[in-house]
Amino acid sequence: MNSKIISTGSYLPKKILTNDDLSKIVETSDEWITERTGIKRRHIVAEGEMTSDLAYNASIKAIKKVGINKDDIGMIIVATTTSDKTFPSTATILQHKLGIGDKCFAFDVQAVCSGFIYALTIADKFVKSGQVKNALVVGAESLSKIIDWKDRNTCVLFGDGAGALILTQESDEKQGILSSSLHSDGQYGFLLETTGGVSLSQKAGFITMQGREIFKLAVNKMSNCVEESLKKAGLDIEDIDLIVPHQANLRILSMVAKKLKLTDDKVVLTVADHANTSAASIPLALDYAVQNNRIKEGDLVVFEALGGGLTWGSVVVRWHS
Ligand code: ACO
Repeated sequence: MNSKIISTGSYLPKKILTNDDLSKIVETSDEWITERTGIKRRHIVAEGEMTSDLAYNASIKAIKKVGINKDDIGMIIVATTTSDKTFPSTATILQHKLGIGDKCFAFDVQAVCSGFIYALTIADKFVKSGQVKNALVVGAESLSKIIDWKDRNTCVLFGDGAGALILTQESDEKQGILSSSLHSDGQYGFLLETTGGVSLSQKAGFITMQGREIFKLAVNKMSNCVEESLKKAGLDIEDIDLIVPHQANLRILSMVAKKLKLTDDKVVLTVADHANTSAASIPLALDYAVQNNRIKEGDLVVFEALGGGLTWGSVVVRWHS
């Protein structure tokens, strides 16, 4: 048994913050941000809009698109670092908002920007084993809530949003999720972290980052991980039809693509319009690719991400919806 993606959905908050808007808040410019990151704008949650609201809006689109009965969803995983509350989980809040009952179980996964890759890998195992027939996997973030808006090193990089997909059983082992690789290395945690946390300060804190070090690690670890997950599936780089990377910044994505010898047309890019939405970035980019007919039946699609922890991972999918 395999698992396959049968539907996708995404949601971006209405408010848009452009680079020019940011240049009125901190000493920066559209030119600097565009040249160093490829980012032009980002979406920001409205007052009172929660991560679970973003997750709900993305999920309902994925559910409606495929016409699945909500009660047939046996599992909900939300990948997020910016949960509504310390507890209950955003996933159980989402379960309630969707009106899904207790035949389903729901929980959050926290692996920062790799969260969606981790969540998808976990869901795949449950579906493959036959324990769950249909899983709802969501990446949702309100990164704007943990940004220090006085720190130009970080505040220009991030945005808010959510993406969702539905995973279901597939009897053909050559279709759907073929392989995945997950890694983490806590020794690099200090390179990208928050200044606070529940047991540390009873406050969420703000993102701090050593950008150059993260850059180098991201390029190496993501490209190696893609090769590793392809090898597990008995495939090569040349077999890739489309790569849907975590949208960290354009320079990282270009360098990974260059290392893997992938042409530009094989890389999905949404970073200019979404910025880095952490765990939400891959499902947002995937839904964008689906909506823009970038994925054909039978395509080999690869997801890859690196995030705080450090955590990183890759998933290989033979597209069969
Ligand atoms: N506007 C203008 N100037 C800025 C800004 C800004 N927003 N931010 C930093 N600068 C300045 C710095 O203060 C520094 O000035 P100085 O030379 O007077 O000290 C100068 O620009 C160069 O700073 P660097 O940090 O060396 O710039 P760099 O070329 O490394 O680019 C960047 C910074 C874009 C953050 C880069 O390191 C990067 O892309 N790193 C990856 C980080 C990332 O994407 N993190 C996301 C989370 S991890 C992930 O998702 C994979």
